[in-house]
Amino acid sequence: MTAKNAPTITPDTSETLLRPHAEQAFADELSALMAVDDRPRPPSWRLSPWAVVTYLLGGTLSDGTVVSPKYVGPRRLLEVAVATLATDRALLLLGVPGTAKTWVSEHLSAAISGASTLLVQGTSGTAEEAIRYGWNYARLLAEGPSEGALVPSPVMTAMRLGSIARVEELTRIPSDVQDALITVLSEKTLPVPELGTEVQAAKGFNVIATANDRDRGVNDLSSALRRRFNTVVLPLPASEDEEVDIVTRRVEQLGAALELPPVPAAAQEVRRVVRVFRELRSGLTADGRTKLKSPSGTLSTAEAISVITNGLALSAHFGDGVLRAADVAGAVLGAVIKDPVADAVVWTEYLEAVVRERDDWSDFYRACREVHG
Ligand SMILES: Nc1ncnc2c1ncn2[C@@H]1O[C@H](COP(=O)(O)OP(=O)(O)OP(=O)(O)O)[C@@H](O)[C@H]1O
Ligand SMILES: [Mg+2]
Repeated sequence: MTAKNAPTITPDTSETLLRPHAEQAFADELSALMAVDDRPRPPSWRLSPWAVVTYLLGGTLSDGTVVSPKYVGPRRLLEVAVATLATDRALLLLGVPGTAKTWVSEHLSAAISGASTLLVQGTSGTAEEAIRYGWNYARLLAEGPSEGALVPSPVMTAMRLGSIARVEELTRIPSDVQDALITVLSEKTLPVPELGTEVQAAKGFNVIATANDRDRGVNDLSSALRRRFNTVVLPLPASEDEEVDIVTRRVEQLGAALELPPVPAAAQEVRRVVRVFRELRSGLTADGRTKLKSPSGTLSTAEAISVITNGLALSAHFGDGVLRAADVAGAVLGAVIKDPVADAVVWTEYLEAVVRERDDWSDFYRACREVHG
């Protein structure tokens, strides 16, 4: 955005950005992969499908470069997702909130096209122009419809470049607007009747859409559109260890990006928060002995990440610099109790029946009682 009165200092390194894009943050890994990658690449792809999966799951390259894992989960899922993008079918990432759909979509497009920014954010207000094209009205009035007055959508730009376009929250978009994607996906062309022309997709063009299967209730995907997508369902982390690993990794990255003062290993609190979330989510204690009621919130991995990050900030700035139960208790409560009446009952039951009985959890029990009463 270059508004006239915008400050003139524009940051030119990703160091100063609050959240660099994947292709900026991981530029080194991407170029290292590009250097060793000698497998066949689909047209316009910057990496081979093998290298794209390696970028997402991490690994050590033949030249010794260590690629950090971005996604933790079944390799096969990512292989299916990446293989889909090399065909003429688009990719739909589906899952409950916080299962890394947006995250995977960003990293896939960064690895495949070198840019994750051709993005349409789906909302109930998304108009057709966001998927097709719009007009610069001043120029439209001055010159009439012309190439110069046309404002391409991210999808149109991706078609021209042979890149990946991303559509976030596809099912929030009104159905008639969603349908604008049908021609694009089946004919690989975008007609511009006002100019008597069309934009034909260059090889390499494809679409990654994400949709949430929990807070659906909005617009379903028409079956005509659904048929043009291969759906990959991203699961919740399979085990407690896996989820602890994801949370630890992301908290570390976020803490570094936010330049939070270092807080010594918070492994115990991370595990506790993850256990509480998993138990309440599944309605069963980890030992499988006690049935529990589940609260109304989703208690996703993403929420566990922000609970811990929040705790780290509290402990670094207001605590003794060590992550303690008291630093996370407030945020855990905030995540669990979304409905002040029903969820509070569920939480109190859990606290008294489970948390209280655990020998080494007394500090956590006390901290939760202090916030919740
Ligand atoms: N399996 C996983 N591997 C790595 N990171 C994960 C995983 N699951 C969740 N995360 C982390 O959770 C955070 C949230 O993910 P993201 O925003 O992509 O979720 P989402 O599925 O798009 O959720 P929503 O439906 O709310 O849009 C990200 O920081 C991501 O790193
Ligand atoms: Mg998302």
